Amino acid sequence: MSAAERFVTENDARAAIVAAYRHAQEWGINQGSAGNVSLRWDRGGREGMLVTPAALGAGETTPEDIVWLCLDDPEARSRARAPSSEWRLHRDLYLARPEFGAIVHAHSSFAASLACLPEVQRAGIPAFHYMIAVAGGNDIRCARYETFGTQELSQAIAEAIDARAACLMANHGQTAAGATLGAALALALEVETLCRMYWQARQLGEPSLLSDEEMSRVHAQFAARALSAGS
Ligand code: 13P
Repeated sequence: MSAAERFVTENDARAAIVAAYRHAQEWGINQGSAGNVSLRWDRGGREGMLVTPAALGAGETTPEDIVWLCLDDPEARSRARAPSSEWRLHRDLYLARPEFGAIVHAHSSFAASLACLPEVQRAGIPAFHYMIAVAGGNDIRCARYETFGTQELSQAIAEAIDARAACLMANHGQTAAGATLGAALALALEVETLCRMYWQARQLGEPSLLSDEEMSRVHAQFAARALSAGS
């Protein structure tokens, strides 16, 4: 999937969601029916999203299983399958963050493991590596624990991802968002990679951290790179 992906038909969009869900499994950032993937998709002038169904693994999910749901009226939806139990977190992020076009929630093992530690739940993953900036800040925050599938979990994620594009989820996993499915998936993979690196560094000692001043330079470099890639 390219960064500039555009889908002409809903069927193309559904197929791309299934492909992204399968990529997440192949890349080892999700497994079984854990995790879910969505794409902003309006129908007939109604703002909506397409989301993976509840309790179906990547291997079994077909484009027909993907559920369309109206953002303003979640009861207005396609009925072939029940939507992911996490539809609230996807819906609420699309409503709050117009720049998000796709969202990946994954139970990637390093992110989920670190998100079980009280220290990480409190302080997140610090700037031990400059790529922390790709999640949008100088650390990766961790959303507080709430029961899966609840409005409370959606609220916790909205807070942790505020002005960012990804966060960890206490005792659960991670959520990453982007303008496109490709961008959201790539960010989920990067967050997992950073969590693995942080884990490994912490096995050997206490990693040195980059200063806020250095992270400002890193953010500026990424912004310049995005501008030149777009021109
Ligand atoms: P769904 O199968 O309902 O998408 O739930 C999986 C999950 O990750 C819950 O947090």
